[in-house]
Amino acid sequence: MGNIDVHVEPWVEISPEKYRLDCLPEVRRFQGRFEKAQNAGIEQPYFRLRTEDPDKVNLNSYNYLGLNGHPEVLQAAKDAVDKYGTSASASRLVGGELPLHRQLEQELADFLGTEDAMVLVSGHATNVTLISYLLGPADLVIHDAFAHDSAVRGALASRAKRCQFSHNDLSSLEEILKRERHNYRRTMVLVEGLYSMDGDFPNLPELERLQEKYNFMLMVDEAHSMGVLGETGRGIAEQFKMRRSEQIIWMGTLSKSLASCGGYLAGSRDFIQFLRHSLPGFVYSVGMTPANAAGALASLRILKREPQRVAKLRTVSNTMGRLLKEANLSTGTAQGIAIFPVFFPEPHQVMQISQALSQRGIEASGIIFPAVPRSASRLRFFLSSLHTEEQLKRAVDTLQELAEG
Ligand SMILES: Cc1ncc(COP(=O)(O)O)c(C=O)c1O
Repeated sequence: MGNIDVHVEPWVEISPEKYRLDCLPEVRRFQGRFEKAQNAGIEQPYFRLRTEDPDKVNLNSYNYLGLNGHPEVLQAAKDAVDKYGTSASASRLVGGELPLHRQLEQELADFLGTEDAMVLVSGHATNVTLISYLLGPADLVIHDAFAHDSAVRGALASRAKRCQFSHNDLSSLEEILKRERHNYRRTMVLVEGLYSMDGDFPNLPELERLQEKYNFMLMVDEAHSMGVLGETGRGIAEQFKMRRSEQIIWMGTLSKSLASCGGYLAGSRDFIQFLRHSLPGFVYSVGMTPANAAGALASLRILKREPQRVAKLRTVSNTMGRLLKEANLSTGTAQGIAIFPVFFPEPHQVMQISQALSQRGIEASGIIFPAVPRSASRLRFFLSSLHTEEQLKRAVDTLQELAEG
């Protein structure tokens, strides 16, 4: 989920007798809101149990290519557990290194077209550790206004000066660069390969032009574009038919198209080699679990072998785009690939519709403030290559009925 602005609790003096975790002001405030909603009979919209019911339509899942549950992926994970156990049991630097880790990294780099790649236990932690490691108080970090929480947390932790540019507006980015770039030691610009809130993506050639002109580090988070964009799922560079620049930090997650869990960083050999020996969230953290490494590797091999899954996701997306258009539902700037927001003027309307859809067997998240601005409340649909036209039609018909009702 993206993040518009990070909530930081103001410093409040707490008397010693109140110095209890359950008395922290933010805990009390949260508890008050939670109880109020419960007393009003409002069903909790979060932590709904994931359903395996085939009659339900799940539009909440990152399972873009339908690989979660694929027999080969399941078998690879099971074999890895049998062979190596359930944990890497150590940092990879000192005893936790498995052949599976190396194989996954090599094949990832090969798939992405970079010299090297490394995998970490969490996508979120990958962003936090990398950004806060490379930047410090003398630096500038500029991120898209809809950057993921992990990028914003990394920027905050780095203590660099933080600026945001209007979502996907590279002229707004250039203004900041012109104004601020020369005041700092280093500048890092953070964008995503496919934005999970709006389903749009940045103009990569233009970003590279700006990078050349203003000299900054560029990091592209491909959590949602890897396996999704480009003819064979190789991501945003393939979408623009470009070679991946070794001067870009290519970050991504294994938890979406690759049906596993973890983050990756890909780029030039020297850069990745340096990170492998020094990045705190890698060096001082356990190696990826055998099951997750094996699962991601098996998924990656299927993705390479069966690019038709990517094409199928495109067909499913085209169908959804057409159905939503016919229903006159507004999808904003979405590019019509895998992610569709549907906007409503009021946050409470979004939450009511999400709940009503769930009662009718259709799971789709309502996204409201503070994840997005109040005026941009939306339902958000994630598609999978496994969705059928009948399922999508049912979802859109039901949504239209609820929106009009
Ligand atoms: C753009 C982006 N980056 C990073 C992450 C974090 O990845 P993970 O959930 O694999 O930790 C997410 C998760 O949704 C994301 O959307």
